[in-house]
Parts: sequence; structure tokens; C-alpha cells
Amino acid sequence: MNIAIVGATGNVGRKILEVIEKLNFEFSQLYLIASDKSIGKKIIFKNKTYSIVGLSDFDFSKVKIAFFSAGSAIAEKWAPIAAKKTIVIDNSKHFRMDKDIPLVVPEVNADTLKNYKNKNIIANANCSTIQLVLALKPLHEQFKIKRVIVSTYQSVSGAGNAQMDELVEQSKKFLNKEKINPKNFTKQIAFNVIPHIDSFMEDRYTKEEWKMTVETKKILDSNILLTATCVRVPVFVGHSESVNIEFDSNVDSKKIRECLKKAPGCKVVDETKDGGYITPAESAGDHLTYISRIRDDNTKKNSINMWIVSDNLLKGAALNAVQIANVLIKKYIN
Ligand SMILES: NC(=O)c1ccc[n+]([C@@H]2O[C@H](COP(=O)([O-])OP(=O)(O)OC[C@H]3O[C@@H](n4cnc5c(N)ncnc54)[C@H](OP(=O)(O)O)[C@@H]3O)[C@@H](O)[C@H]2O)c1
Repeated sequence: MNIAIVGATGNVGRKILEVIEKLNFEFSQLYLIASDKSIGKKIIFKNKTYSIVGLSDFDFSKVKIAFFSAGSAIAEKWAPIAAKKTIVIDNSKHFRMDKDIPLVVPEVNADTLKNYKNKNIIANANCSTIQLVLALKPLHEQFKIKRVIVSTYQSVSGAGNAQMDELVEQSKKFLNKEKINPKNFTKQIAFNVIPHIDSFMEDRYTKEEWKMTVETKKILDSNILLTATCVRVPVFVGHSESVNIEFDSNVDSKKIRECLKKAPGCKVVDETKDGGYITPAESAGDHLTYISRIRDDNTKKNSINMWIVSDNLLKGAALNAVQIANVLIKKYIN
């Protein structure tokens, strides 16, 4: 099986390589694709040197699966062209809400992959949605979720390479008491937080907040009510979420903790002592999604609060995409 990675030099693309190696994902030929400025650049992977190739003249019939992680504009233009000749697993937001395209988090709705042939494109969910639905799925099955209120604390790697570099630059300037002129952020991000991710919509929410609502409904259950506030924080890798959930049935934090202990892809670390919880820096590089601070909401019946942390570049993007490919290969393609 031959594979390609479009956006191989980016944050997510490089993580896809890392995951392929870690999971021993088998392939024959690997093609690494990026923008024209990177053509000819070398990437060493598994002791072999690969030259980056361009997108416009790449023949996608050479590969069985193409991982796309080059943003929405590239996906919009090139994924349908590639999908005539290969299966595309796209990390961008572009195709997620297309009703003919499966939006997949394998632990939650792998069965929807049976529809992949509709367009030969599969969408990877948004990073903040993926870690949330991993925790919500077993809870919804057992206790039926009515409403979710989520506030996110999203790392700068979720915005891309340039934004990670800018956090370093801004931090140096801040410490040197120099003037900060934000380039890739709307305001200062170093030693600050920004309550704005993606563009504003007519109803005053941001598109990131909207994505969390509509993607959760598409993946899990259209009856779940979800409202979100998404915030960018000066963390390099690892998204965190403070989540309040109201259930239909009788719950308490003890039952919730027991249920979450069995959640695939998740680990409960929840002790009421110093350090008895997971922070985003600790989640970086890890394949698991961590759940901590599970508490009864003392102001509302059948409601709980919790804290979810995951590596946004791994489970939030690269790992999820490679897991999708693994299910595809095992169950749907030969
Ligand atoms: N970061 C996350 O947490 C996360 C999570 C879920 C989904 N995503 C999504 O994944 C996608 C990639 O994000 P990222 O963080 O990896 O971005 P990034 O670090 O900025 O990387 C972008 C990649 O796209 C390539 N690219 C840009 N223009 C291209 C073109 N014309 N033709 C071919 N390749 C081109 C870049 O190549 P050059 O190096 O040559 O410019 C680079 O490899 C985005 O859609 C993002 O929303 C990201």
C-alpha cells in the first residue's frame, strides 16, 4: 500500500509521520507533499531520506490513501481532484459538515466509514471536538446527555507552525520589555489569553465554537445541546477543556468516574491532592486523552463538571487520521 501526506512539513504532517512510525503502520511507498517553497527539501524518516514533492503535478493514482493536512483552501481545491484516484483523509474543516462525508473519531463512530465511497473523502473532526466526544460517548450511552457547556483552553500549535514561533518571539519581547506587534494572532498571546479562535459568525459565536456544536451533533447525537467558548492560551501543545454536562438520568460523580474508566482512548487521573490531575504540557506527546477533576455540579441535579486534556496534534489530528486509515484498511479496503 502506497500513501501520501499533503502538508508533510507542517505541524500535523510531521506528527502523522511520527504516528505512522509509532503504530508500525505498514506502507510500501511514501510520498511527502508540501507547497512549492518546500519542493526538494529533505525529510529523514525511518533512516530513509525523502524529497518533498509539489502538489499540482502529483499523480494520486500512485497511492491508496492520501492524508491531507494543508488547510481548508488546499483541501477544497485538491481533495476532490485527489479523491478521483485515491482515498483522502482530510484534517481541515472544509468537508466536515458535508452530509455525504463521514466525520470520524474511530472510538466513537467508526461504523460511519462504511459510507467513505460517497466521495472518497473522510473528514477528521476538529481537535477540540475529538477529545470531547471521546469522553462524551460512553457517558451518553449509559446516562443520556441533555446539555453540554464547554470552555476550551487551546494551545498555539492548534493554529499552526508560524503561531508556535510567534509565541516564542512574543515571549522573548515581553521578558525584554520590548513592544509586541501581533502578526498571526489578533492580540498579544504571550502571557495572555485570547477569547477568539477562527472567524466571528452572525450570532456572535466564533466558527471554532460553532464547529464544536455541529460536529458533536453529527458524530454523537443531534439531540445533544452544546454551547462553547473557545480560548487560545499561551501553551505550545495540548488542548484543555472545562466541561459541564447535564444528564437525563440519575448520575453522580462516582458513577461518571466509573463509566469514564472504561472509555476507549481515555485515562482517568482524578485525585484531590496536589498534582492529582493532568495538565496540557503533560499530555504533549501522549496518545491518550486524560480526564480529571470530575465533580458533582452542586447547583444542578444530574450535572457534573470535569477537565479533559489531550495532545491536539496527536489525538486531535495525526493519530486520529492514522487510526481512521487503520480501520479503513482492516474493514473496508484491501
Ligand atoms: N494543529 C492542530 O492542532 C490541528 C488539529 C486538527 C486539524 N488541524 C488542521 O490540519 C491542517 C494543517 O494544520 P497544521 O497545524 O499542520 O498547519 P501548518 O503547520 O501551518 O502546516 C501547513 C502545511 O501545509 C502545507 N501547504 C501550504 N500550502 C500548500 C500548498 N499550496 N500545497 C501543498 N502544501 C501546502 C505546508 O507546506 P510548506 O511547509 O511548504 O508551507 C505545510 O506542510 C489545517 O487544516 C488545520 O486546521 C490542525
